[in-house]
Amino acid sequence: MLIFEYFYKGDYVWLDLKTGQEFEVPIGAVVKLCDSGQIQVLDDEGNEHWISPQNATNIKPMHPTSIHGVEDMIRLGDLNEAGILRNLLIRYREKLIYVSSTAKTGGICLFKLSGESGAGKTESTKLILQFLAAISGQHSWIEQQVLEANPILEAFGNAKTIRNDNSSRFGKYIDIHFNKRGAIEGAKIEQYLLEKSRVCRQAHDERNYHVFYCMLKGMTAEEKKKLGLSKATDFTYLTMGNCTMCDGRDDMKEYSNIRSAMKVLMFTDKENWEISKLLAAILHMGNIRYEARTYDNLDACEVVRSPHLTTAATLLEVVSKDLMNCMTSRTLITRGETVSTPLSMEQALDVRDAFVKGIYGRLFVWIVEKINAAIYKPTSSQPKALRRSIGLLDIFGFENFTVNSFEQLCINFANENLQQFFVRHVFKLEQEEYNLEHINWQHIEFTDNQDALDMIAIKPMNIISLIDEESRFPKGTDTTMLNKLNFQHKLNTYYIPPKNNHETQFGIQHFAGVVYYETRGFLEKNRDTLYGDIIQLVHSSKNKFIKQIFQADVAMGAETRKRSPTLSSQFKRSLELLMRTLSVCQPFFVRCIKPNEYKKPMLFDRELCVRQLRYSGMMETIRIRRAGYPIRYTFVEFVDRYRVLMPGVKPAYKQEDLRGTCQRIAEAVLGRDDDWKMGKTKIFLKDHHDMLLEIERDKAITDKVILIQKVVRGFKDRSNFLKMRKSAVLIQKLWRGYQCRKNYGAMRAGFSRLQALVRSRKLCASYNVARQRITGFQGRCRGFLVRRAFRHRLWAVITIQAYTRGMIARRLYKRLKGEYRRRLEAEKMRLAEETKLRNQMSAKRAKAEAERKHQERLAKLAKEDAEQEKKEKEEARRKKEMVEQMEKARLEPVNDSDLVDKMFGFLGTTTSFPGQEGQAPAGFEDLERTHRELEEEDLDEALPLPEDDEEEDLSEYKFAKYAATYFQGTTTHTYVRRPLKQPLLFHDDEGDQLAALAVWITVLRFMGDLPEPKYHTAISDGSEKIPVMTKIYETLGKKTYKRELQALQGEGETPHADGHKKNSVRHKLVSLTLKKKSKITEEVTKRLNDGEHGLHGNSMLEDRPTSNLEKLHFIIGNGILRPGLSLSRSGSGLGNIPEGRYLQVHRDPQLIVS
Ligand SMILES: Nc1ncnc2c1ncn2[C@@H]1O[C@H](COP(=O)(O)OP(=O)(O)O)[C@@H](O)[C@H]1O
Ligand SMILES: [Mg+2]
Repeated sequence: MLIFEYFYKGDYVWLDLKTGQEFEVPIGAVVKLCDSGQIQVLDDEGNEHWISPQNATNIKPMHPTSIHGVEDMIRLGDLNEAGILRNLLIRYREKLIYVSSTAKTGGICLFKLSGESGAGKTESTKLILQFLAAISGQHSWIEQQVLEANPILEAFGNAKTIRNDNSSRFGKYIDIHFNKRGAIEGAKIEQYLLEKSRVCRQAHDERNYHVFYCMLKGMTAEEKKKLGLSKATDFTYLTMGNCTMCDGRDDMKEYSNIRSAMKVLMFTDKENWEISKLLAAILHMGNIRYEARTYDNLDACEVVRSPHLTTAATLLEVVSKDLMNCMTSRTLITRGETVSTPLSMEQALDVRDAFVKGIYGRLFVWIVEKINAAIYKPTSSQPKALRRSIGLLDIFGFENFTVNSFEQLCINFANENLQQFFVRHVFKLEQEEYNLEHINWQHIEFTDNQDALDMIAIKPMNIISLIDEESRFPKGTDTTMLNKLNFQHKLNTYYIPPKNNHETQFGIQHFAGVVYYETRGFLEKNRDTLYGDIIQLVHSSKNKFIKQIFQADVAMGAETRKRSPTLSSQFKRSLELLMRTLSVCQPFFVRCIKPNEYKKPMLFDRELCVRQLRYSGMMETIRIRRAGYPIRYTFVEFVDRYRVLMPGVKPAYKQEDLRGTCQRIAEAVLGRDDDWKMGKTKIFLKDHHDMLLEIERDKAITDKVILIQKVVRGFKDRSNFLKMRKSAVLIQKLWRGYQCRKNYGAMRAGFSRLQALVRSRKLCASYNVARQRITGFQGRCRGFLVRRAFRHRLWAVITIQAYTRGMIARRLYKRLKGEYRRRLEAEKMRLAEETKLRNQMSAKRAKAEAERKHQERLAKLAKEDAEQEKKEKEEARRKKEMVEQMEKARLEPVNDSDLVDKMFGFLGTTTSFPGQEGQAPAGFEDLERTHRELEEEDLDEALPLPEDDEEEDLSEYKFAKYAATYFQGTTTHTYVRRPLKQPLLFHDDEGDQLAALAVWITVLRFMGDLPEPKYHTAISDGSEKIPVMTKIYETLGKKTYKRELQALQGEGETPHADGHKKNSVRHKLVSLTLKKKSKITEEVTKRLNDGEHGLHGNSMLEDRPTSNLEKLHFIIGNGILRPGLSLSRSGSGLGNIPEGRYLQVHRDPQLIVS
């Protein structure tokens, strides 16, 4: 229960399910729930577990370093399998696959890479190589060569296996040499134990070496033909594993890579071809078939006839017959005599495979030597120890297959050695560290595998030497060898003898586990020699290359060959050499761990990883460290981490006596007598010390955290409150201010209104007074003026009256005077007559007669007077009437239209139709004359008008000359009575062209040369009352529509076409006439539509008669004021046109237009 209270939600723990499986280790987990008596945890693999109080021991707290992983695993607090595994898992998930567990540098370094097949050793080697090349940064040729060695080695030494698509089937040690400046100056490659058997046999789903497949894919058809090659599936040696393709590998591309790498490493084309020949020969040999025979009761065989044998012989440049003999029989030398015995089919197959393996193995060795020749520059004088070099050892790791053969024994032996070295090295490092820190070191004891090594290869009668001995013994077989091993080692704990006599396996307890070895074929493989016949055959070959790779074998005699070193002794020797190199190096061990067996990304197989960790010997290291004081902190680290446990301790950088402080802290927390040690720079602790310190630290920090939280929260709340109070005050302030301002505003408005009222009343009163006074004053003034005027008028009336009366009186007087005179004269005449008549008649009668005549005359006079009076009266009435009429006319408005009609009435109208015009009107006859002659001249192109800016003096132009120069087409200066086809002058703007044509039509109508349209809309909307200029500008704003005009022109050319056409033309004229209506809405709509629908826009040519005034508006508007047509545009103006032609100009609107 107690431990339960210790966990909180979110804590990390180690969960040990205690299933007892071999590779089971505690798994990391996080606490999800912990309140219901049970604890629920979620482990790293996403599984949930409930832990009841009985199983409380299943969970343990996790060290902080294990929670998020560390780069250097030495820092792991939980330095055990579980801790390492979890660290690997975290790093793997974060794709940070490289972690370290020691870090030291030295003069000569060696990286030893180990791990299972497919774990990434070779890839890591390549990465390290690339890294070294990159940091040496020279991009030198030698660097390139070193890097290019890899593709070649991989082509010949790597193959697809079930575990790895690019599995190295040989061990490799690359020693890279650096010069003083750190640049790569050379390298040397050593190879170990190429798996030669792969050339002849592959397990299911595996392939032969890459180079064969690459060659078959990459060679040209011609090359292949020369070598008799075809597809990979045609060759037995390439199809044993039933697999010729490898996903993710492009054999064709690889082949070109290999070829280019070979070029870089100075393989000549000839050498390359020779290599190909040998490889092809191997493939052909593989296709040789045998048939079993029996000769003289001896098992024998024959080669089945096929082209493969001959092709192989040709490629090896040996006699085909010799090759066949070699493959089917063996020569024995008994007592100085050579005897040829046939081989059984089984033996024959072995011989063939041995030959093939021999060729391939030697070829591989030769290639490595060739590469070394290119990249290795022996540094003469310097001893090896002084050389700056980095070695990379990529060797197969410890492996345990279902069937393990002789090579496996060698490999595991090598790994045993390396493990031993590794453990000792780590042990040595530990020891060094304790010594450096002056710590008394008695506790550490470590288990090494010296005993196993002794048994395998060191002590007398060891396993390797027994195998060797048996190999040299002519009658030795695998069984006799096994018996000897049993006899010698059956009591050894590291040796596991076969369970019974029939079994051919024995086992060895390696550091990483038990491995059983199958003894069949051991001796054969160990001998690694070829029969004399084959050597003889090679000797007979004309192929220099094959002779070269077999040089050593050919050189030695048959006897020496028998005593030549066995494979195991060769391997042992190179291993010893390697170990010697290792011992003088600063070694770094790179352990490659394979996350899963399926070549899959992001799949972490815990069991597989634990197994690899154990086999890699990581746990040995851990054991060594745990035996001592696994936890160590430098004083600085310790003080900084645990100073919280002792109040008042300053940070490390402020401390003077760090060691003392550490000691004080440790004594206080751990107790003086407990088993912890102070070194010189570090403090050494046991696991439980660290745990205790961590718990205490956690507690102390929690306390501090709570304190900080308390203070921070108090501070936060206080400052929050202050902020809120400040804000409230601010809001109040603003609100109150706003209120006051609002009230004040209202009051001020009220006062203003009051003031205004008062002032207005005052003003009103004073105004009224002033008004009264002024009206009074006005009244008087007016009265005065009226009176004065009255008086004046009175005076005038009186005067007029006086004069008039005078005049009347005088007139009367004059009449009366005249009357009197006439009467007087008549009296005189009567008297004279009376006197005259008295002579003739009686006085009385004379008197009466004179009286009668006198009366007659008087009547006549009276009549005359009455007539005169009547005449005068009539005259006066007429005058009065006239005055009245004039007065009336003065008040009436002037009618523009009538005025114009009156003015231009002399032009009259004509009924003649366009083209049928009669004689020119009076005064224009002279223009008719030249008309006919000039029409003949075809002036297609009129000259353009001079540009505005060209100051051409037009005054020199006669009108005729001007017209000839500038008028377009055939038009001359003479007046024509029909619509023009094109404007007289050239215009860019289409609108201008149309306007010019419309103007001409209007002029023709104005002049009466073109009939008015008959259609009568008879709309009288009082448009006459619109001011002239308004109309003119309206006309200017109109658009003249091309289509309508063209129709009109058509009418002009073919007058009296059929009726309906004319009707439509007439209808279209509507659009070309001055606007009659000017209703705003209509106008606006039209302008908006601005196109087809605006036909009524220009109503000058509308289908109705127009008044002269309207026509004049149109002519002025378009012909004179329109910017494109106006006279001012030409820059000449009317003034420039000859005076005498003005009338003509006037009659030719096109010129005006220009
Ligand atoms: N660092 C790495 N990054 C990505 N893939 C890798 C890495 N190391 C190894 N591999 C993959 O694993 C395969 C086997 O690696 P390899 O180095 O050939 O194994 P080994 O030499 O240990 O047998 C490679 O072909 C590659 O696909
Ligand atoms: Mg490899």
